[in-house]
Amino acid sequence: RIARHFLPQAEGDVCLRRSHCRAKGGAPGFKVAILGAAGGIGQPLAMLMKMNPLVSVLHLYDVVNTPGVTADISHMDTGAVVRGFLGQQQLADALTGVDLVIIPAGVPRKPGMTRDDLFNINAGIVKTLCEAIAKCCPKAIVNLISNPVNSTVPIAAEVFKRAGTYDPKRLLGVTMLDVVRANTFVAEVLGVDPRDVDVPVVGGHAGITILPLLSQVKPPFSFTPKEIEYLSDRIQNGGTEVVEAKAGAGSATLSMAYAAVKFADACLRALRGDAGIIECAYVASQVTELPFFASKARLGRGGVEEILPLGPLNDYEREGLEKAKKELAASIEKGISFIRK
Ligand code: NAI
Repeated sequence: RIARHFLPQAEGDVCLRRSHCRAKGGAPGFKVAILGAAGGIGQPLAMLMKMNPLVSVLHLYDVVNTPGVTADISHMDTGAVVRGFLGQQQLADALTGVDLVIIPAGVPRKPGMTRDDLFNINAGIVKTLCEAIAKCCPKAIVNLISNPVNSTVPIAAEVFKRAGTYDPKRLLGVTMLDVVRANTFVAEVLGVDPRDVDVPVVGGHAGITILPLLSQVKPPFSFTPKEIEYLSDRIQNGGTEVVEAKAGAGSATLSMAYAAVKFADACLRALRGDAGIIECAYVASQVTELPFFASKARLGRGGVEEILPLGPLNDYEREGLEKAKKELAASIEKGISFIRK
């Protein structure tokens, strides 16, 4: 019975179950693949995507344990049809016809590690997965979560360029967790509901490259220098806070799955044609001289439709920007030369 859920089914199967292929309200749903679906992020992410009414088909791919995760998730009485795929030989089937690919595959940090320490293992994983995306679903939107995001997005771009499929609008590094943390920590200081707070976070996704633009917070608020110091430090080191609390058992998984779904949902609503969707993501961007920069982006049917300017920065933010750019430039170069060397 597990095999029935697990084995890739023919496209005809899906058509016979047409009601499952429609999102609520009769609109066509989207086909989404999660690569690394059996991991700490992958499992809760798969569960939350199964609950998303915009998803009609959910493909779960990993190199281990997908049969169990797929059987488990497939019992949820929501609309999306779930299929599992195990190991490299099933990767192509996992990706064929997919609209959105979410990638949380790779090793996470342990205490004392930086995200860059993950480079050696995760760079190769991202390369392999992106080569398959270029072959099997070159038009899909890609949400890349695997760290170090500052380098894995340039790696993905290089792989797609080599394959002749690169479209900068469709490759997005997921920095939503930085925004989610910023909203939470700022709401605590303001004593308001985090759902009413919006902090743009730009730059990159590691330490000092994470630049919360507190001067542009909504609702508008003027923080004291002490508050700015505290908030910036906590937002930049939020990931390390979790790594240390988990004491060797990994990094953020549940809040990350929440953030990934919040971001994927924005991408799917944009694909559906909803207007006015603006999110921060690590993308090809012209707001600085660097080729990639986490920026405020307007999302649409083609992915990133427009990069919004940084907006006015105060002295503290300008200083942070200069430091961030230095580190980011090195991380981008490291990613690019991994593929070109
Ligand atoms: P995990 O180790 O719990 O799960 C990773 C999964 O990837 C495992 O199931 C593993 O089997 C799978 N995997 C390994 N090689 C693969 C391959 N070639 N193809 C497909 N799947 C493969 O790790 P966790 O906690 O889920 O983290 C995953 C990644 O996400 C890490 O690189 C971590 O640093 C990153 N991360 C990113 C964040 C962000 O804000 N962008 C936040 C938190 C974590």
